Amino acid sequence: MTTLDTLELPETKDPYEPVVARLIETEPLTELERLFVFEPSDGQVLGHRPGQFVQVWIPGVGEAPISICSSPTRGRTFELCVRRVGEVTSHLHRLTAGEEIGVRGPLGNGFDMTAMQGQNVLVIAGGLGLAPARSVIEYVLDERARFDEFHVLYGARSPAEILFRHDLIRWRHREAINLLVTVDRPDEQWRGRSGVVTKLFADLPRLNPERTCAVVIGPPVMFKFVVVELLARGIPHDRIFCSLERRMRCGIGKCGHCQINADYVCVDGPVFTYERMRELPEAVT
Ligand SMILES: Cc1cc2nc3c(=O)[nH]c(=O)nc-3n(C[C@H](O)[C@H](O)[C@H](O)COP(=O)(O)OP(=O)(O)OC[C@H]3O[C@@H](n4cnc5c(N)ncnc54)[C@H](O)[C@@H]3O)c2cc1C
Ligand code: FES
Repeated sequence: MTTLDTLELPETKDPYEPVVARLIETEPLTELERLFVFEPSDGQVLGHRPGQFVQVWIPGVGEAPISICSSPTRGRTFELCVRRVGEVTSHLHRLTAGEEIGVRGPLGNGFDMTAMQGQNVLVIAGGLGLAPARSVIEYVLDERARFDEFHVLYGARSPAEILFRHDLIRWRHREAINLLVTVDRPDEQWRGRSGVVTKLFADLPRLNPERTCAVVIGPPVMFKFVVVELLARGIPHDRIFCSLERRMRCGIGKCGHCQINADYVCVDGPVFTYERMRELPEAVT
């Protein structure tokens, strides 16, 4: 007879309980953003999908949702790109190698990379959106044979605000990726393209829309203009995947802080198809 003593119950973990992560190294990316390489102290891997996030917990300070910017194909460490804006992020910027923080996650749905296999992948990233996009980009590069054409369009406000410069140089020298970069406000030294990210569409080759998945990550203002370009190229609504940002608290669908109609961005998102977003008119306001 099965009793409560003999029944094997799956191990349940308190979703509010963070795991400890140790900072391995950190480097400045711009004046406001730093890259952090962490390793979970319990010896586990985070096991995330590109597009998921963690709730970073600084004891006595607070929590903040931060996207994982590394690919799950890159071993036991995970990376975060953090813009210093307030309490939690400023505290993170003061951390040095060897110090520990708490993280909950991975949280959110992330991008379904399996569904994109065999397809052309077109990533459009604006500003800090390159952080979660980097997880997608490195994943596709590491699993390159599984995908068809790979195009990445990235727009930053100014040359000084360009993120992941070393990665951009490395990616640009790979034949496996067509990377186009632009800045809104060029300076005297800038020799690249200028203008908003949608201008880069003019330099894209013709893509078969029925075999193309688009990944869109950036500030809300960018979405509508990018989606117009994608629709003009015939990319179906359910092949356009957008990552949304909403203010969050619990990150696990309990507090309602991130709710848009019936959807919780923290669990039903942050990735939504354009098809779904059309039913959430306040999604990008
Ligand atoms: C799913 C998700 C992924 C994210 N990924 C990243 C990431 O990879 N890197 C990163 O640097 N940031 C990311 N953010 C944003 C980050 O969570 C906020 O900037 C965070 O609140 C900062 O915490 P803080 O305590 O330092 O600042 P706070 O003290 O909370 O706020 C500082 C300032 O930022 C404003 N603010 C805070 N949160 C938001 C928000 N969501 N939208 C608009 N304004 C806001 C506040 O009004 C205030 O002016 C993400 C947010 C979400 C929801
Ligand atoms: S942040 Fe609490 S429900 Fe989404």
